Amino acid sequence: MSSARLIDGKVISAQIHAETKERTHALQEKRGVTPGITFVRVGEDPASQAYVRMKGAKAQELGIHSNTVVLPEATTQAELLALIDQLNGDPKVQGILVQAPLPRHLKEEEIFSAIDFRKDVDGFHPVNVGKLLLGQNPLFKPCTPAGVHELLVRSGVPIAGAEVVVLGRGNIVGKPMAAILLQKDRHADATVTVLHSRSRNIPEHCRRADILIAAMGQARFVKAEMVKPGAVVIDVGVNRVDDPTAKNGYRLVGDVDFEAVREVAGAITPNPGGVGPMTIAMLLSNTVRAAELAAG
Ligand code: GUN
Repeated sequence: MSSARLIDGKVISAQIHAETKERTHALQEKRGVTPGITFVRVGEDPASQAYVRMKGAKAQELGIHSNTVVLPEATTQAELLALIDQLNGDPKVQGILVQAPLPRHLKEEEIFSAIDFRKDVDGFHPVNVGKLLLGQNPLFKPCTPAGVHELLVRSGVPIAGAEVVVLGRGNIVGKPMAAILLQKDRHADATVTVLHSRSRNIPEHCRRADILIAAMGQARFVKAEMVKPGAVVIDVGVNRVDDPTAKNGYRLVGDVDFEAVREVAGAITPNPGGVGPMTIAMLLSNTVRAAELAAG
């Protein structure tokens, strides 16, 4: 049996971080500007705590200033909107990231829309999402799908004309992923199928894919028999599964049954160590872009 080539997100994200660090130094030297990002976290969701901590640590490593505002679970919509208003007006803050998911009483869409689109380093503001769909060069693309795209491009995966199947239609990954890959662009131009919870014949669609992107949040959903031999498989999933032998009683696994699928695929992302590091790389690249734009 052959085993797929690994698409190493740690190596590729390190390349992007090195580029981001250079741009950060250039901004400092030429314009006297230090890029800055403010993270907003509401409540004490442990996964969100960990994500924000990792993003902040990496920012610091690259010379990007970061600050985290932690608000209590009971924060009202009006209080959160007031904070965003204040951050929108603060010239030292070039990037704003409100960590999702928010507590259920808060309206995420309204919050994302309130962020100044020039500071929207997450790429979730309707102006940026709309420009992405229209092929009008948005200021920022959502970090996870942009990271998947970079993985494909920098690994030399042919995208133009390829059959791409995206599993999942969420606003954070699936929808923007499809939008990025179907654009008229030499690094896109794919034929994209988006599958979701109401789709019929999911395995059949998946078996047609030259590039299969799993982002629906179901542990080890993609099995070997759903993958065309030689296909490129990208695993975006982060799912908790019970594991009594683990310290916390759980383990994180992807949406792909990695050990079985790697025997069929031509190339595959490990998980962890595939898409995850790319999300942070794209976020910090976006942050420096926000600072570059603000510097004029
Ligand atoms: N939650 C899961 N992914 C993301 C992301 O890319 N940005 C934010 N803000 N929250 C998330």
